[in-house]
Amino acid sequence: MNTIGYVPPDQAIAQLSHHGLVPVVSLDDAANADDLAQALVDGGLPVAEITFRTAAAARSIEVLARRGDVLVGAGTVLTIWQVDRAVAAGAAFVVSPGLSRAVVERCQAHHIAVLPGVATATEVQAAMELGLGAAKFFPAAAAGGSETVKALAAPFPGFRLLPTGGIAERSLAEYLSLPTVLAVGGSWMVPAQLIARGDFAAIRELTRAAVLRARQTSRPWRDALVDVTIAQNRAS
Ligand code: 3PG
Repeated sequence: MNTIGYVPPDQAIAQLSHHGLVPVVSLDDAANADDLAQALVDGGLPVAEITFRTAAAARSIEVLARRGDVLVGAGTVLTIWQVDRAVAAGAAFVVSPGLSRAVVERCQAHHIAVLPGVATATEVQAAMELGLGAAKFFPAAAAGGSETVKALAAPFPGFRLLPTGGIAERSLAEYLSLPTVLAVGGSWMVPAQLIARGDFAAIRELTRAAVLRARQTSRPWRDALVDVTIAQNRAS
């Protein structure tokens, strides 16, 4: 149970859509979590997906959740045990590289937003059958980029995608200008080398540049509600 800073799924998804950007962070040492969070906040992007690719993930999520000024999620969540750890640490959303029914249903049981990875029409349909209205599009660049997002929008116009994987700032606008794109994820704002060097000023500037680029893209739908109610109903 998340006792730190529970965020209902529709609110978490709405905040991701509002910001339009999700920095994907891998922290080797939770001692860097607070400085990283401050750099994101100062850069104008109080959002972070902390990946479960390092042993410091759960502790780092907890540091961010306890601050109360960052929407923190867990990434690379592969198992229900990681879902439980992420929720206990205070994660407001869960992201997976692929579509695991077990992971999705565990998140629904916790009443927490979940964005499993999809890359094909079959996977979008499977996500919809689990009651979801949005998913991560991964690996975005390798799976056809913005052209694939557009192609999937034809049969699934209401289904929102979080393209992630191989995206850099220069291609941000081509994704964000598409109405089915909820937000764009990536690690380009938070490179591991800068974290390792402790260069949080550089991370702040990369974040600022990404935020500026996102704001320059017209997204009149960014505060439209995303329907995640089916998922919540299923779980109750
Ligand atoms: C992810 O886990 O979503 C991706 O590894 C992040 O992709 P990027 O490092 O190519 O931005």
